[in-house]
Amino acid sequence: MKVAIAGVGALGHHILRSILDSGKHSVTVLTRGEPRSNDPRITWRKVNYNDQSSLIEALRGIETCISTASSFDDAAFVQSQIALIEACLAAGVRRFVPSEFELDPFKRKDRVDYLIAKRKVLSFLDTSAVRDRIQCTIFTPGIFYDYYSPMTEDGKRHMSSESLVPIGFDMVVDLKNCRAELVEGMEDKRIRFTAVDDVGKIVARALELKSWPDQFLMSGENLSCMELIRLCERVRGKQFEIERMSIADVECKSEEAKKSNDVVGMFKWMTAPAVLGGEYGWDDKTAHGVDIKEVFPDEKFESLEEFLKRWW
Ligand SMILES: NC(=O)c1ccc[n+]([C@@H]2O[C@H](COP(=O)([O-])OP(=O)(O)OC[C@H]3O[C@@H](n4cnc5c(N)ncnc54)[C@H](OP(=O)(O)O)[C@@H]3O)[C@@H](O)[C@H]2O)c1
Repeated sequence: MKVAIAGVGALGHHILRSILDSGKHSVTVLTRGEPRSNDPRITWRKVNYNDQSSLIEALRGIETCISTASSFDDAAFVQSQIALIEACLAAGVRRFVPSEFELDPFKRKDRVDYLIAKRKVLSFLDTSAVRDRIQCTIFTPGIFYDYYSPMTEDGKRHMSSESLVPIGFDMVVDLKNCRAELVEGMEDKRIRFTAVDDVGKIVARALELKSWPDQFLMSGENLSCMELIRLCERVRGKQFEIERMSIADVECKSEEAKKSNDVVGMFKWMTAPAVLGGEYGWDDKTAHGVDIKEVFPDEKFESLEEFLKRWW
């Protein structure tokens, strides 16, 4: 299979490595910059998302295009992703994976700007002119375990991944300081998680399948917030201090973040309402799409406890 990956950054790195490790596919990386390795197995193509011909040329002969692009500039992200999809159509690419890789978009509310931007891309993919000509498949892994691994000494990335940069806050649990933040009602609300390396492996393995659904759901863990805290306490060998907050406190902080255009704050404070709304999990029986464990019953996902014990 001839595969292109557009925008190889934190996640793209893991997908690229797994595809190369499989030895089964040829890989082209689309980048706005210069080649970042001299691995002979990778074909690097410099592209300009404002220049359709550069994209079409880079995509000729490609069967599957996986986007792992991301940008703080939401308008630029949408523009580049629509240009990429249009180029895929022009070049005859059969399958497209949008840069989703998080919560189930059939369930989530688009509470922050980057999710609104992602929705615009999904809406474009869902127009009949696109839908009828290219298979679009979303990979949904929940939250990456790797955000719970310790930071490197320089604070630039998480130790479990050579490429994942911090999001700037701790989601529910802060393993370093043995603390947790719980908004009332979150105790039994569930969150799905997967190790970023497992996401890479699954995407690479899925390339072998003849047919793809609209969505592949995957998760190494499906934990309630309280189960997450207890698991982290076991790993750290001590009881966590739990700060309890009301949803009114969270709404107040969320408003403050919006007023000061604090992107990290907006992301942090949308977490509790989204967890309370069930958007960080999904129900195996009713979720839209196919659970990857049904497709690959032999696939072993690392557990969060095993993962954390390796790092703490
Ligand atoms: N579930 C989770 O916990 C989780 C965590 C992290 C990320 N994600 C998701 O995974 C996907 C990839 O995120 P990431 O953190 O890996 O991204 P990233 O490292 O921030 O960026 C990926 C690449 O996007 C390209 N890029 C930047 N600006 C662009 C633009 N305006 N147009 C087109 N390409 C652009 C860059 O590649 P070039 O410079 O080479 O062009 C960059 O290396 C996103 O959808 C993100 O939401 C999910």
